[in-house]
Amino acid sequence: MIDDVLKPIHGGTDSGPPPRFDFSTNANALGPDPHALAAIQAADPSRYPDPLYTELHQALAAHHGVSPEQIAVGGGTSELIHRLTRWRYLRGPMLILPPTFSEYARAAQPSELPLLQASSPSEFLHLLPRATLAFLCVPNNPTGEVYGFLGEAAAIAQRHPVTLVLDLAYYPLSQKPPPLPPTAWQLHSPNKAHGLTGVRAGYLVAPVDLTHLRHIAPSWVLGVHGEAMLRAVIQRPSLDWVAHTREELWGLRSALAAGLRDLGLEVRESVANFLMVRVGQATAVAQALRARGLRVRDCTSFGLPEWLRLSAQRPEAQAELLLALEEILHGQG
Ligand SMILES: Cc1ncc(COP(=O)(O)O)c(C=O)c1O
Repeated sequence: MIDDVLKPIHGGTDSGPPPRFDFSTNANALGPDPHALAAIQAADPSRYPDPLYTELHQALAAHHGVSPEQIAVGGGTSELIHRLTRWRYLRGPMLILPPTFSEYARAAQPSELPLLQASSPSEFLHLLPRATLAFLCVPNNPTGEVYGFLGEAAAIAQRHPVTLVLDLAYYPLSQKPPPLPPTAWQLHSPNKAHGLTGVRAGYLVAPVDLTHLRHIAPSWVLGVHGEAMLRAVIQRPSLDWVAHTREELWGLRSALAAGLRDLGLEVRESVANFLMVRVGQATAVAQALRARGLRVRDCTSFGLPEWLRLSAQRPEAQAELLLALEEILHGQG
């Protein structure tokens, strides 16, 4: 069980040499956001952050139009997902809709929460009243799906003692993002849209008082750099930078999808900055690409052993990936 918990289940840095191009994380490839980066670099690492994060909670609350008690910051939303599973008010069965971000199921293990895995949206809605905590990723990682039943799920969650948490990691990079039900809880991971995944900071917005959830955190989960990033990403220059770069990312994603389809491959495009492509033996293809200096996300751990997940990258990276895939899959070049 411990081995399972420790298995690599994310894209990004591995133990190999740095790749030339990294398609394996869904961070904004046009980043880092220069405004947020400047704020991080200006942070003073010789001092502790405010352990109560009072001003940060106030700034995030003002941005979302809620009261500061409705905000909890964490060492990335991964840490908040784990913290939620340990919160005594939410203890009970956890419901997810696989394939989806692996950290929800991983967090259920050490917290010993029974895990309910719905096989379809209708089963998710059916099982929702039996859960105490349910996660939906909007748009979903890795499939890119945008669920049309968010309002219905939120209405069910209102009628039963279940907390519906929407993971919005890629929401700011989405074309036509769906409206969000106001009663659902929201996890925000701005390090993705701002291309700053090395900074471990994210936050939760909920329609309830989160003071107690804050207090069960290990102390000082955010350092001054995380604090600086979260303060910067809600400022106009950073918001504008994301709004501008995401349009470029959608163009790059479409170009990558077209190139992959030209190779005869099946593609599932998300509404955000990533897609899935069916390559057959995903692990073997991912390893062959890695040997060529190209890192991709093998979707085997999502239960999709024929698929790779790729993020939109700059044109030169995408051209190199398409060439390498052609060689590996069709033995050309
Ligand atoms: C869907 C989703 N949610 C949450 C996270 C966690 O992000 P972080 O812990 O960096 O905030 C990730 C990271 O890959 C993700 O893909």
